[in-house]
Amino acid sequence: RIAGPCSLVIFGVTGDLARKKLMPAVYDLANRGLLPPGFALVGFARRDYTNQDFAQIVHDSVKEHARTPFREEVWQQLSEGFRFVPGDLTDDVAFERLRETVDELDVTRGTGGNHAFYLSIPPGLFPEVVRQLSEHGLTDEKPGSWRRVVIEKPFGHDLKSARELNRVVESVFPPEAVFRIDHYLGKETVQNILALRFANEMFEPIWNSNYVDHVQITMAEDIGIGGRAGYYDGIGAARDVIQNHLLQLLALVAMEEPVSFDAWSLRQEKKKVLNAVQLPERLDLHSARGQYAAGWAGGVKVKGYLQEDGIPSTSATETFAALRVDVDTRRWAGVPFYLRTGKRLGRRVTEVAVMFKRAPHLPFTKTETEELGQNALVLRIQPDEGITIRFGAKVPGTTMEIRDVNMDFQYGGSFTESSPEAYERLILDVLLGDPPLFPQHTEVELGWKILDPVLDYWARHGKPEQYPSGDWGPDSAHEMLARDGRAWRRP
Ligand code: BG6
Repeated sequence: RIAGPCSLVIFGVTGDLARKKLMPAVYDLANRGLLPPGFALVGFARRDYTNQDFAQIVHDSVKEHARTPFREEVWQQLSEGFRFVPGDLTDDVAFERLRETVDELDVTRGTGGNHAFYLSIPPGLFPEVVRQLSEHGLTDEKPGSWRRVVIEKPFGHDLKSARELNRVVESVFPPEAVFRIDHYLGKETVQNILALRFANEMFEPIWNSNYVDHVQITMAEDIGIGGRAGYYDGIGAARDVIQNHLLQLLALVAMEEPVSFDAWSLRQEKKKVLNAVQLPERLDLHSARGQYAAGWAGGVKVKGYLQEDGIPSTSATETFAALRVDVDTRRWAGVPFYLRTGKRLGRRVTEVAVMFKRAPHLPFTKTETEELGQNALVLRIQPDEGITIRFGAKVPGTTMEIRDVNMDFQYGGSFTESSPEAYERLILDVLLGDPPLFPQHTEVELGWKILDPVLDYWARHGKPEQYPSGDWGPDSAHEMLARDGRAWRRP
């Protein structure tokens, strides 16, 4: 799987995402030999850079963030294909320069008319860029060549705006040329959910309401919002993470087996399951939100959200969100899925925990099984990638005592292959035109359809509850599960 002749044009190339993820991913792909020799990288931004300045910026970001070692010969070849186009997104002249640049690349680098436009910019600017690309002939495919657009979340801030955004983008690019990035789908461990479920015989027979009590999906971060106040405030944890990453994880865990692994079949199954997601009637009892207060992170005293630079002291943006949903299908009838995400929590961890019912009968006494919990299958998405199965075992000794133990699979212990960073995989798929890992517009809209009523409810009901940094979210999140007779796993 090596990309054919092409270029990648990044709008917003001076932003954080480009610096930390996109440019290093391009270098890593080149280093692994997955880019064509004439590959070109075009940066577009409102800066007065020359091609040399741009090369220096890519160089710095690669040195700091690339996963693979720096190799001079790879760098030399790659950097010959760097171009920088200065200009504002509303500037016709800049887009004319961009058109000349891609035409020049077709001749000098042999990019063959194949160009992908990566919009690493706020979504409010998508309509303008898409219009400019179309007006300047940058979306015109020559016979045998392709033009693609890559868009980053958030895809809108509710169902209505997402629909409008999809309409605008797809009025210029055909649906198959639109690649929506949900970087969780680029993670090895996320793709492994499908391998675990559908390449084995052992798990699928118990993957249903006969055996599963409930599912917990957690994406916890120990960091705060850092320098992202402008993006984050007014967006919040539910829009930032639940609408996309967590609902995608839910879809992969809950969906039926696709007929094959092509994009169409996968999306069909994901859509079916997202369509079956139901919110509880009482959102006051089955949802929770919080905002981090001052506290501790990694032994250091940290500020609360309202004291962060650029955050208004009256902000009602949630930095923690938890929600119960049900999946109304035969497989999942009566099995709640609990989703939670938050910043400044106890530690950075993303996991899916499938919690099983207790054995219907235990031929042991209460004291013998005192320390026995529920069986669990935990898909450890990050950082300690692997799978844990938790079950009861006899404690060695002369008495019968049963305690929970873990059986672990660790990626690092079983594979010597290194896993590509999510963006590496996704950028390569864009250049190859391989769509299975990119959500389609209906999936995005279904995500908003699920979340909109929750966001409306929260908007009408006061402010999020404060929780100390370094803790596991507000009390209401714990009460939410306690009411159902359950508790969050402490990862
Ligand atoms: C992004 C969110 O999508 O995912 C960020 O916008 C979050 O707020 C990030 O920090 C986390 O990604 P990862 O890959 O580190 O789990």
